This record gives sequence, C-alpha cells and structure tokens, in this order.
Amino acid sequence: MRFDILTIFPEMIQGYFNEGILARAAKRDLIKTGVTDIRAFAKGAHKNTDDRPFGGGDGMVMKPGPIYRALRSVRRVGERSLVLLLTPQGEQFDQNMAWELSREEQLILICGRYEGIDERIRRLCVDREVSIGDYVLSGGELAALVLMDAVSRLVPGVLGGEKSAREDSFEGGLLEYPQYTRPRVFLGEAVPEVLLSGNHQEIRRWRRVQSLKRTLDKRPDLLHNTVLTREDDAILQELKKIAEK
Ligand code: 6GU
Repeated sequence: MRFDILTIFPEMIQGYFNEGILARAAKRDLIKTGVTDIRAFAKGAHKNTDDRPFGGGDGMVMKPGPIYRALRSVRRVGERSLVLLLTPQGEQFDQNMAWELSREEQLILICGRYEGIDERIRRLCVDREVSIGDYVLSGGELAALVLMDAVSRLVPGVLGGEKSAREDSFEGGLLEYPQYTRPRVFLGEAVPEVLLSGNHQEIRRWRRVQSLKRTLDKRPDLLHNTVLTREDDAILQELKKIAEK
C-alpha cells in the first residue's frame, strides 16, 4: 500500500514518518510513503499556493493549479488509487472506513488548509472528502497522519508479532478489557485474582465481562452496532441490573 501526502508543510509529516509503526512498516516494504510539497508545483516568482477569493471576503483560498500538478506527479496509472481531501466538511472517519481504505493500492491525501481550497479541485479530482471529527484544525496534516496510522496498521503484516488488529478496541464493536502487568501490587492495589489463576476459560470470560461493562459505561452507543452472543446479552442484562441498584 502506498500513501502520498500533498501538503504545503512537508516537514510536519516527515517527522512522524521517521518513527514508530509507519517507519517500521516502510522499512519492511509493507507500506510506502511519499510527501509532496505543493509549493514545488506553484508558479511565479513568489510560488504562491493561495490567493484571494473571487467575490471578496476574508481568508485565502488554495489555488487549484499547484494541487492539480502535484496530484499528476504522484498518481500511478493502472493502480487502484483513491484521492482523499482532508476537510472538516468530509464524512467522518472511523474504523470501518479504515478497513475500506486499507484495501486500496494507493491513497493520495490532500491536506487542505482550513480557510479553503478551490472548489474545482473538489469537483474534478477528489474521490472522497474525509474529516476526523467535529472540531476545527488549522489544516489537514494532523488528520492525514491520523488516517494513515489507523489504515496502515490494518495492512497485512504491519502489526507483525503483536496481537492482531482485529482484537483492538472497536474491532469487535467493544472497548478493550483492562490490562495489568508486574508488579502484582502497585500503590496498594492488587491485580485481579482471576488473572493470576491460570484458568484460561475463566480469564476469557472475565475479560469479556469487563469489555461489555466498559462499553456499557463509557460508550453505550457502540452496543447498537455490535454482534453479541446470547451469553453477552445475559451478561449485559446482569450489568444493567447491578447498575440500577
Ligand atoms: Cl480533515 N481538517 C481540518 N482542517 N479540520 C478538521 C479535520 C480535517 N477533521 C476534523 N477537523
């Protein structure tokens, strides 16, 4: 899978690429990442990438030309490639979209600045507009990094020996159960006895109960789109009863 990020702030992206999961995946050739400076495709002495809006008003608008030429420079003909515009107006990114996007061969991410981008880029070049949540960032760079992190860890092999992405929070539609490591007692608080029991069936059940309990407490909305077993339903009924007391 290949990511190409188009931005007027390439250094913002590069720093993140150099460390962590993305760097490791890139070293193992599981993903490829390219950062393209939109300004390198600007014309004129000043290499302007934005200009005043037709019709007047505050703020500047990103010019279409530099973005278009930057896009042409990274687009790979014949590959399944998708052009995404990061903007607060987009559809909201979530784990399902991450899975969908992980099946593409190339993702081209255009980082818009908050003030705006010439409408013709949207209409003529963009396949999908994506937001990462209902708040305003000054540009799409952080959103692009969020998206790339979430998508790349779903690419086969990227997580390596670690537990599979399928077991993460949200993947089963539930939040994760609590985890403990040594020491057995910390600040007077002991690790739950069951985790030291060696009884794997008991441990599995305890963890499922904890996942359900956490989800019920913190994100009950998630339970509506989750496939639950009969046992899960019974546990939830119990938990609700306890909560009412
Ligand atoms: Cl993708 N861009 C900007 N500028 N702000 C955002 C966003 C994106 N997602 C949430 N807020």
